[in-house]
Amino acid sequence: MLETALRYSHTLLKEIVTTGDVVVDATMGNGNDTAYLASLVGSSGQVHAFDIQQSALDATKERLEREQLTKQVTLHLEGHEKVGNYLQHNLKTAIFNLGYLPTGDKSIITLPKTTLLAIESLLEHLLPKGRIILVVYYGHEGGEIEKNAISDYVQGLSQELFSVLQYQFINQKNQPPFLFCIEKKKLKD
Ligand SMILES: C[S@@+](CC[C@H](N)C(=O)[O-])C[C@H]1O[C@@H](n2cnc3c(N)ncnc32)[C@H](O)[C@@H]1O
Repeated sequence: MLETALRYSHTLLKEIVTTGDVVVDATMGNGNDTAYLASLVGSSGQVHAFDIQQSALDATKERLEREQLTKQVTLHLEGHEKVGNYLQHNLKTAIFNLGYLPTGDKSIITLPKTTLLAIESLLEHLLPKGRIILVVYYGHEGGEIEKNAISDYVQGLSQELFSVLQYQFINQKNQPPFLFCIEKKKLKD
């Protein structure tokens, strides 16, 4: 069966992430992607995970402790637009789950301006063959605006430097999430 966008995001991560890699979870939430990335990079790797809610850090910390994955993870109580402060030019991948945390405060959503700042910064630090993955939830108020802003931005990326994939079911009700994957082809000359 075809994978959901969420499951496909992990397939795209698994294809490229190996032991020792540096990676980012830009929207930590309850830590599902953080824990998955931590298991892929192993204890010699490095996961930087971001969220602006203390409850997200608490939930993620608890999960990582339970799964014995704390060593390779740094949790940042900070917006992902600041991600560039923590990176060198050796980033293998970053993942976003846009929107709100279903188990948290639904009024706290990702926003186009900060999401785009984060994407720009991540693309700068990304290794060739590295991927930025965005799982786009857009059924909530403000979601459509963010979806359109990101869609415009990724469609405008240079074909020389990036491949951009959209993975989406187009006959489903209720605006299911879809996915963008930006893969870096080569460094800028
Ligand atoms: C859809 S949820 C993420 C779900 C998460 N991947 C998981 O496994 O549970 C989106 C998250 O983005 C966070 N968020 C919103 N704006 C942010 C920002 N500027 N920087 C980092 N995280 C942000 C929200 O607090 C929320 O927890």
